[in-house]
Amino acid sequence: MENILAPSILAADIMRLGEQISEVRGAGAKYLHIDVMDGVFVPSLSYGVCVVESIRKSCDMVLDVHLMIVEPHRYVEAFAQAGADIITVHLEACADVRETIALIRRQGCRAGLTIRPETPVDAVEEYLDQIDQLLIMSVHPGFGGQHYFASATDRIREAAELIRKSGRPIDLEVDGGVTRDNVERILDAGANVIVAGSAVFHDPQKDAAEFMQILREHSRARDAQ
Ligand code: DX5
Ligand code: ZN
Repeated sequence: MENILAPSILAADIMRLGEQISEVRGAGAKYLHIDVMDGVFVPSLSYGVCVVESIRKSCDMVLDVHLMIVEPHRYVEAFAQAGADIITVHLEACADVRETIALIRRQGCRAGLTIRPETPVDAVEEYLDQIDQLLIMSVHPGFGGQHYFASATDRIREAAELIRKSGRPIDLEVDGGVTRDNVERILDAGANVIVAGSAVFHDPQKDAAEFMQILREHSRARDAQ
C-alpha cells in the first residue's frame, strides 16, 4: 500500500502559497491538507470555502479538507463545489454523523471521519461501513506546531485494527505533531496518510522530499513482508 504525504498549508507562508504548494507537489506529496476552523469548535479561525476554490483553480493535488467546525453539514455542499476531494468531519461536531457522511458522499467526495484525542477510538466503529478515511488526531485540534501525543500511537493501532476487522479499504490518516523523527512509529502503527504542517513548511522542497523518502522506504518494506 502506498503511503501518502498530506502537507498542511496552515504552516505555509501565505504570501508564497502557490510556490510552496508547487514545491511539496514536486517532492512527491499527493494530498494537500486544508484546515478549516470556525472559532467555535476550536478556538482558532483559519479560512473557508473561497480559499479551497482558489487553490483548486491551479492545483491538481488531492484536496483533503479537514473541517473543524460545528454542524459541518451546513458547509459540505459548498466545499464540494469549491473542489474538495476529501471532506473530513469531527464526530463530536456533527448533529447527525451518519447523515453528514452520507451528504459528503452524495456530493461526490470521499468521506473522512475524525475524533479528538479525548474521544474513545471505538466511537467510530459504527460508521466504518460508510467512510473512506479515518483521521486520528495526535494533538488537540485547532493549532499547528504542537507536540505529538505519545498516546496517539496506541490509538492509531486500535484504529488500524478496527479498519482491518471492517474489511473495508479505509485510509488511516494521522494529523498533529508529525515529524521525520516520529513518522516511522506512526506508519508502523498502521497509518498510511501523513499530515504534516510545521515539519514540512520550514523548507518545503527539502522537508517534503525527506518525508517522502521515509514514506516510500516504509511502503516498500511493508510490501516486501
Ligand atoms: C491542527 C490541524 C493540523 C495542523 C498540523 O488542528 O488539524 O492539520 O496543521 O500542524 P503540525 O503538523 O504543525 O502539528
Ligand atoms: Zn488538520
